[in-house]
Amino acid sequence: MCGIVGYVGEQHPKECLIDGLKKLEYRGYDSSGIAIKNKDTIQIIKSTGKISDLEEKIANEKLIKSNLGIAHTRWATHGEANETNAHPHKVNRVTIVHNGIIENATELKNKLVNEGIVFRSETDTEVACAVIDNYYNGNPIETITKAIKELKGSYAFGILFEDQDKLYAVRKDSPLIIGIGEKENYIASDIAAIIKYTDKYILLEDDEVVELSKDEVKVFKDGQPIEKEVKTSTMTIEDANKGNYKHFMLKEIMEEPIVLQRTLNKYIHDMDQMADISDYEEIHIVACGSALYAGMIGKCLLEDKANIKCMTECASEYRYKKIIYDRKTLVILISQSGETADTIAAMRKAHEEGMDTLAIVNVKTSTIAREAKKTLFIEAGPEIAVATTKAYLLQVAMFSLIALKAAVSKGLEKNEKEILEEAKHLPEYLRKVLNDKEIFENVGKEIHEEHSAFFIGRGIDYAMCEEGSLKLKEVSYIHCDAYQAGELKHGTISLIEDGVPVFAIITDDRIKDKTESNVIEVESRQARIFIITNDPSIMNHHFKYVVEKLSDYFQPILIVPPLQLIGYYTALTRGLDIDKPRNLAKSVTVE
Ligand code: G6P
Repeated sequence: MCGIVGYVGEQHPKECLIDGLKKLEYRGYDSSGIAIKNKDTIQIIKSTGKISDLEEKIANEKLIKSNLGIAHTRWATHGEANETNAHPHKVNRVTIVHNGIIENATELKNKLVNEGIVFRSETDTEVACAVIDNYYNGNPIETITKAIKELKGSYAFGILFEDQDKLYAVRKDSPLIIGIGEKENYIASDIAAIIKYTDKYILLEDDEVVELSKDEVKVFKDGQPIEKEVKTSTMTIEDANKGNYKHFMLKEIMEEPIVLQRTLNKYIHDMDQMADISDYEEIHIVACGSALYAGMIGKCLLEDKANIKCMTECASEYRYKKIIYDRKTLVILISQSGETADTIAAMRKAHEEGMDTLAIVNVKTSTIAREAKKTLFIEAGPEIAVATTKAYLLQVAMFSLIALKAAVSKGLEKNEKEILEEAKHLPEYLRKVLNDKEIFENVGKEIHEEHSAFFIGRGIDYAMCEEGSLKLKEVSYIHCDAYQAGELKHGTISLIEDGVPVFAIITDDRIKDKTESNVIEVESRQARIFIITNDPSIMNHHFKYVVEKLSDYFQPILIVPPLQLIGYYTALTRGLDIDKPRNLAKSVTVE
């Protein structure tokens, strides 16, 4: 959600900026722009639509000579996605790009309007720019340090001052890294944007101000210079590219066996490495989107296997609700990016309440990874497609292990050795399912013209349905609902008509007969039934796909790829922009 790149060096910045913006496309955006500068002038070019539209506009303009610039992809929050609202914004001597939300923008704007400032856009960013310009006294570090004290909310800013030939940046609660190159330096929302140029980076803490020239990077806190550690990223250029795949989404699904192995390896040979949550009497699992659905699987496993009371809640609700707890409670936060604004706020609320937190995170440098009391890292590597796939699978796998550990600690699970032995074979089971991808391609082809679909299941199967349904709607734009199979007849069954696809997930032996009856109920109303199960004896319907039968802990993992592949191939057949679905952002850094 909004991406920032900045360059200072010996080259013209255009190539690096456009390259970086393309690598940040996955974050979601609806307009983009660049600002390049030299001693005499600042040139700003903006466009709505895709980066390719911006490139076309740039190609039609005569670019000034320059070796310094900033660029931005905007996901509209304040004001519609048009060129006026697109970044960079310039107010007098200051030009900025911004990721985040300035919460007191209206108040500040009223004040500045009274002082005679004229605003062109509807954005909070232009207000922040005016605040910085208002403070500008020829000393950028002093100016930025003072200006940010006036701003409430979240920000990552790339800043150019008319009379300076350096690049400036600052962040709070929005991601921004500093890339260190050879005779050039960079700022970026994440390392993927600049990995082609450097793997060396500095992590900025809240309100640290940076000054970058081609030879030097200086970081300041409260106006004073501070030392920062230069880190080396493990990301490779291949990670940031699609390779032979048409889409990142498919590439990332196909990577699942490898990343699962990488994630499990640390624990299955030594379960002492796994967090033991068996002492807690209650667990709140809090997350957004797919991460929340991974949490719903976690809840089923923790309750069933470890006998711990659990509740799941989306972070946007949890952060504002009254939290009632009188027992020893742990809050588990799940986030691929570790930067989702609502999940960060929920974590901070839990800390204010004095609760313990455990985060399941992919991005190691993220805010949640840094602030949670304990963190378990999934090893998904960079995930570029907006719709999460491999990270979701690993979040589920992490819950399998957390539940196993807790069940063993409480003496409720006696077969730890056998279960861990099974875990060693999971990647190969997963490969087997992925090798069947043509089967799901055919499902995608079959359903791509439908307007509506349903996923039904009970218990843990229902939790998986939620993700199956989300995947289908977010990438293929087909309306889809997930229902507890027994609940369908209390209203929603009225939507079942001739040919409507109903996907039923049936893996839980204890309730499979019940779900089967619900399947028959909808089938007798002419629904087209697609069953995904671990039980070959389930009655044949229109379509049945059977995965290996595993222990309850790991069974959900094998159901994940079919759900993702159905979503992917349906969207592919519909010819959609799969890696960047409309209106969606990968990392939702605003409320
Ligand atoms: C966005 C993404 C989803 C993701 C959710 C939570 O909506 O499109 O794929 O599940 O954010 O993101 P997080 O980074 O916190 O896991």
